[in-house]
Parts: sequence; C-alpha cells; structure tokens
Amino acid sequence: MHVPGHKQGRGSDTIAADLIAQYLYKMDLTEIPGLDDLQKPSECIAKTEEEAARLFGADRSFLLVNGSTVGVEAAIMATCRPGSKIAIPAAVHRSVIAGLALSGAEPVFVDTPVSHRYLIPLGVSPADVERSLSAETGISAVLVTNPSYYGVCQDLEAIARVCHDRDAVLIVDEAHGSHLSFSSSLPAAGLEAGADIVVQSTHKTLGAMTQAALLHVKGDRVDHERIASFLRMLQTSSPSYVLMASLDSVIHRFSMEGRELVACAVQNANEVRESLGSMAGVDVLSAGDIGPMFALDPTRLTISAADRGVLGLELQERLRIRGFQVEFSDLLNSIAVITYSDAAADLQRFCSAVRHAVAESPVDASIAEGLCEKIRPLVAGAAVEERRFALTIREAVFTGRRLVNLDESVGEISAESVCPYPPGIPVLLPGQRITRPIVDLVKTLLRAGLVFHGMNVDKGSYSLAIVDGDS
Ligand SMILES: Cc1ncc(COP(=O)(O)O)c(C=O)c1O
Repeated sequence: MHVPGHKQGRGSDTIAADLIAQYLYKMDLTEIPGLDDLQKPSECIAKTEEEAARLFGADRSFLLVNGSTVGVEAAIMATCRPGSKIAIPAAVHRSVIAGLALSGAEPVFVDTPVSHRYLIPLGVSPADVERSLSAETGISAVLVTNPSYYGVCQDLEAIARVCHDRDAVLIVDEAHGSHLSFSSSLPAAGLEAGADIVVQSTHKTLGAMTQAALLHVKGDRVDHERIASFLRMLQTSSPSYVLMASLDSVIHRFSMEGRELVACAVQNANEVRESLGSMAGVDVLSAGDIGPMFALDPTRLTISAADRGVLGLELQERLRIRGFQVEFSDLLNSIAVITYSDAAADLQRFCSAVRHAVAESPVDASIAEGLCEKIRPLVAGAAVEERRFALTIREAVFTGRRLVNLDESVGEISAESVCPYPPGIPVLLPGQRITRPIVDLVKTLLRAGLVFHGMNVDKGSYSLAIVDGDS
C-alpha cells in the first residue's frame, strides 16, 4: 500500500518492464549521438517532453531525474528573487524550504484549517489565499500542495483566479497527484484548474521509477527559459537513461490507456473504502470529514483505529506482520495508497488484514486521547503563530551555526528546520527566533513520543542548531 505506483512492477506495461529488466545495463548510457541531452533536449528527450506536455495539457514539460524535489526548488527559484515573497501553507515538503533558501524568497503563511478528528492539516481556501495576498504586498507566487499527504484537494480553480487577479503565479506541488488528470471523478488536476507550474512525482502514483518526475508550465506568466536554466543548475549532468526510459514508457502508456487504468484504481479504492467503512472500530477519512471547501482523492486512504486505542504506528506494525506496508503513519492514522497496479484480490486481502489488525487486543484508548490533547495545539497552528523571523531562511542557512541545549536556545535564532513527525508541520524554520512557548511545545511533544527531524539527541539530551554570527 506504498509508493512507487508500479508496486514492484506489478502494474507496469509488460513489454517496457521486460525491456528495462533485460537491458538494464545496456540502457544505462550517457549522451552519445542519438540519445539527446537532458540539459538541452532537441531529439528523443525533446519528443518525450512534447508527448508529456500533450498528455497533461501543458505548454512545456520537463523530465526530472531528482524527483519533485528538484522541480519544486526550480519552480521557486524561477518565480522568486532574493527578497520576493511567496505564500505557502504551514505544512510543506522540505523541498519548499530548500527552494526558499536557494532563492532568497521569504514565506508568508496562509492559514490552514485542520481536522480535529483525524488531527491532520487540510488545505488552504481561496479566501485565505486572498487574505494573505491582500495583507502583504509584493507576493510574487503562491505554492499549494495538492493533493495533501492525506489526499485532501483544494479549490484550485478559485485559488488560481485569486492569484492571477493579484499578479501572483500559482505553483502546485502535485507530487501525490499525477493520476488526477485521468479521471473526471477525481478532483481537478493543477493544469486543468489554471496553475502556472505543476510538479508531479510520476513515480508515486503512475508507474515511473523512483526519482523520475515531471515539471509542467502553462501560460505566459512564467519564463520557460528561467525554469530550464535553474533545472540545468540543479540537476545532474549525468541523468539516468533508465529513469528517463521508465518515464517515457509511462507517458506513452498513459497516453494510450491512462483513463482505463485510473478508472480501475478509483473503483478499487471506492470498494476498499466501503469495506473498511463497514468495520467496527475503523474510520476512513471521507468527504464528510473535510467539509465542502475541500475534495478528496479516494485513492489515498487515511485509516484510523484510534477509537479502539490502536494508534497509527501500532496499526502500521500490525499490518506489516500481515504482509502489508502502508505509505506512512502518523499519531492517529495509517495512510494507504492505491494505484492502478493493485489487483482487486490483493486489496481484499488488505481489507481482511485491517479487520484482523484492529480486532487484535485493543490498547487503552485513553493513551490516544492523552496524546491527542498534547498534539492538538500544534495541529491547530500554535507553532505557526509563534513564527517571527530575525533572519531570512537564506541568511540563516548561509551563516555559521553551533549547537545549544534546548533549554538554552530561547532568544537565539534557529539555523535548521525542526519538524515533529507527525504531523510534519515545522515548529521552527531557519532564521526564526526561538521563543519560550516554542521550546515548551517541543518539550511537550518530545514527552508525547514524537520523533523530530532537525534536532540533535545525545544521551537523552536535546540540542538545536542556532545561528552563530561569529563562525
Ligand atoms: C508534498 C511533497 N512534495 C514534494 C515531494 C518530493 O518528491 P520526490 O520524492 O519526488 O522528490 C514529496 C515527497 O514525498 C512530497 O510529499
């Protein structure tokens, strides 16, 4: 129930999969005559990029060999300059923070409503984007993640209108949504809805190999050559032809039968939703839980058995021993991704595994409630409210740093992103002033057992990287 979407080759076009398997080393070539050059495509790579643009409805598409990560970074660099502002939601992938450090752009945070039941951030509304654009002058771009990690989709059409009315470019991080264009029963894809730049991890929900991704540009608000130039700067000069061949085969296959393949995934996912929804003690995030402002991608299942005291990581472990690996788990939920590669029989086995995993001895549900109480303020935006920058993200990452004990960090400037998982909302970003409420929140979350990225642990003592102007 995990990406990559080809699910270990089960769903691959058999001819392409056989060719790749058989000729793996023979295909691992470099820029020799006849094989074009990703840095300046004019032959076979240009043809694949044109086919991708036709398939997804872009004016220009770029093949990426370093995932959506490099696409998001290049998109931010091409649309923001040092000192520009970009509106982003509270929870973003780390490539967005890297894009801010590389470009020198400064973030403006758009309010993000949350689901208190599942303890997850939802998405941004057109009204909240409009509020950010009116409150701050000079925002040159808005970036939204669509779908979110939990499959929540936003009203991109309305968001695009709001952005364009204010001369801001809309970038959609569609890492989890390359399949959206292939079904009218799914929420709208970014390009359909009017986004200017869309970045897709084609490896996640279509069948390309891990790292193979696409960046699309539409309209004339973005200079295509600036994107090309930043991609040349950020991507390897030795791109893998195996990865590009896998992307080429996916683009070709989805041009021929993408709608049928995705229709099958949607139907299977809806059947799994129905089956899980009928089980005692199992909740599956559904349209009714997220309100009319948002839509749900049915192929991502946020499954919670927290009411029986089975928390996300516990459910994940119980499913692993029954032969199923979920995409990821947070405090309350486990997330399963269904793609065109999943066979109906395997999905029935998955439902049965969930039934047995949840029926196994329940855990004390009050433990879950206690943890929820602790994490609720974070999900509800406590960390975002405390965000005050003493330096830009770029200044902070390019200045010297040293480690200090967590308790001694109050008043200092963070040199790192410090992010608890779940729910992946950073409590500190580089350049942010560290305050007492932030340190207290971090300590509460550590006591609740959350794992932090960006914090150093040595023999049970926690320290943070702070900016050290002297080094
Ligand atoms: C929302 C989001 N954006 C971007 C990325 C980066 O994608 P990739 O792994 O293709 O570099 C991820 C990866 O998980 C993601 O979840």
